[in-house]
Order: sequence, then structure tokens, then C-alpha cells
Amino acid sequence: MASPPVVDAEYRKAIEKARRDLRALISSKNCAPIMLRLAWHDAGTYDVNTKTGGPNGSIRNEEECKHGSNNGLKISIDLCEEVKKKNPKITYADLYQLAGVVAVEITGGPTVEFCPGRKDSLVSPKEGRLPDAKQGFSTLWSSVLFDAILFAICAFLCIIAVPYQRQVASSGREVNLSELKNSSRAGAQHLRDIFYRMGLSDKDIVALSGGHTLGRAHPERSGFEGAWTKEPLKFDNSYFVELLEGEKEGLLKLPTDKAVLEDPEFRGYVELYAKDEDAFFKDYAVSHKKLSELGFNPSSPSSVNKLDAKTGTILAQSAVGVAAAAAVVILSYFYEASRKKMK
Ligand code: HEM
Repeated sequence: MASPPVVDAEYRKAIEKARRDLRALISSKNCAPIMLRLAWHDAGTYDVNTKTGGPNGSIRNEEECKHGSNNGLKISIDLCEEVKKKNPKITYADLYQLAGVVAVEITGGPTVEFCPGRKDSLVSPKEGRLPDAKQGFSTLWSSVLFDAILFAICAFLCIIAVPYQRQVASSGREVNLSELKNSSRAGAQHLRDIFYRMGLSDKDIVALSGGHTLGRAHPERSGFEGAWTKEPLKFDNSYFVELLEGEKEGLLKLPTDKAVLEDPEFRGYVELYAKDEDAFFKDYAVSHKKLSELGFNPSSPSSVNKLDAKTGTILAQSAVGVAAAAAVVILSYFYEASRKKMK
């Protein structure tokens, strides 16, 4: 692991220059969604127990970039390289997170506070730390298959044994519904397993899932296809509105998205964010900042102020000490002088 960058005035200047370069690049290439995904996939490998992974630029390593979940992200890594060449001082870890923050901002989303100083790593975690969108899908798929088989059996029974049809069909429906519930439960548990490992909460899971307000899925990358919202280049709360409105022609819902809807704890946040965009923006900005700082402790302005206050206290204490010492010297001088007079 490289040492952390020295965040001095020059480094901060380079960050601001990179921010401007990213704004220009992202708006000219319309690549906000893939930049946000890059930032999330670099950070989302964090493990709070082992303190490994996280936003450290390791996604640029060939080994990690080739993980199945990162399919397609080489495009964004190469785009960021253009900005890195112009601003060689800043770390990849800072660059990728800054790209995520800029992507949200220039598509109309909330301002996410960015603190620089992440260090780069060349160590990549093993594959499998990011969520699997298909979780809950296999059982869902098997329930669809089950439906098809059931339908064939029913059709057969219709012909030769009509009286049995209703009974078999209704028992099949019960199994099917419970299968659906189980698959959603498994999907919600999977999301909790992944995000709790990062040290994030249920609220973070739902707020960050709102990142799917941007972009689309590509069959050659993930096997899924389509956008979650009608305007995939606009950051708003429409992901949650669409989620509550259910299946719609042309719009995507991943099995994990559906799991968010089925879980009572998650659903509370979905309903809140669908009706109150300000609440979504406020929570999203907090969760995104947390995600972008997993395993990284920036020296925030508040901690600098605390430092200043501490230094001030020490100075004041020293001043009192000096004044007391001076008073003792002056008093003993007068005491000595008056004693001499008395003699
Ligand atoms: C909750 C678990 C998550 C799962 C299972 C998941 C899964 C996926 C999948 C399958 C895709 C499609 C990739 C492709 O085919 O190109 C995708 C795209 C995307 N994801 Fe997620 N994701 C999750 C969380 C997040 C989070 C937390 C963010 C950001 C805060 C995010 C941001 C995005 C964006 C912006 C895209 C669109 C990329 C593009 O258009 O190229 N995702 N995600």
C-alpha cells in the first residue's frame, strides 16, 4: 500500500482542477452513470472487520477489473486516465471517488462533500465482495418453471380429469407465492450481508440503491437489459417512484431491487424517498459520503477546528502560567525590598 498523499494547498488545487476536468469530460461524453458505478465498485469491496478493500483505486488492477461484477468498467477507468494524466499528483483512489461525486452533481443530484487524501493500493480483494443482482433470481426462475410445468399438468388434467384441476392449481399458487416471498427474503438478506460487511446500514442500502436513478444495464455486461427510469441521465427520486409503481414495459427491475421493495424495513425508506425527493437527496448525500470514505479518515474541517481549539487552550494555559510566575517574581521582589527597609 502506497503512503497517503500530503493534502496541502497544492494537492487541494490539483483536486479542484481535476473536478473541473471531470465535469467537462462527463458532460461531453454523457458518462455520469458509469463513473458513479466505478466509484461505487472501487469503494464497495470494503470489509469493516479486516479493514481491507474500499476506495483505494485497486479496481484499476487488471485482476480486479476482470471480476465479473466489474464488466464494462474498464471504459470508465480509461476515461479517468485522461484526467489523471492532466493531474498526476492526485491518487487514483481520490480521482475515482471525485468522479462519482461529480457524476451525481452534474446530473442534478445532491452535493456530496468530498474530502481528499485517500491512498492507492495495488492489493485487490478476492472476487465476490460486491452484490449479486441475481440473488433471489434462481428461486424466482424456478418458480416460473414450476408455473409452466403446473400449467402443462393442469391442461392435461383439464382433458382427462377436470374435477382435479382447481385443487392442483390452487395448491400450486400457494407454493408459488411462498417461493416468491422466500426469494425476496433471500435477496434482502444478501444485500444486508454485503452492506453490513462494509459497515453500512439499512438506510444506506436503500438510499444508495437510488443510484440506479442513473444509467442502464447492458446484456453483454451483466445479462440484464434496460434503464430503471425514463430519464437515465437525470439524478432524481424516480427510481423509487418506478419501484412502487411495479413492472412497466421497457423499465428494468433487478431481483435485488424487488427485494428492497418486499422487505418491510427497506420499504419504509422506499415510500419516503418516492414521496419526498428532498429527504432522498439529504440521506443519499450522507450515505454516498460514507461509502466514499470507507476505511479512510479524512481530516475534516471540524477536526481542524477542534485542533485549533485545543492549541488555543494550551496557549491560554501557558499564558496564565507565565503571568502567575511573573506575579510571584514581582511580589517576592517587593517583599525583599520592604524587608531590607525594615532592617
Ligand atoms: C444494491 C446492490 C446493487 C446491485 C445488485 C447492483 C447491480 C447493478 C447491475 C446488474 C447493473 C447493470 C450493469 C450493466 O449491465 O452495465 C448496475 C448498474 C449501475 N449501478 Fe448498480 N447495483 C447495486 C448498487 C448500486 C449502488 C450502491 C450504486 C451507486 C450509488 C449503483 C450504481 C449503478 C449505476 C449508476 C449503474 C448504471 C451503469 C451504466 O449505465 O453503465 N449501483 N448495477
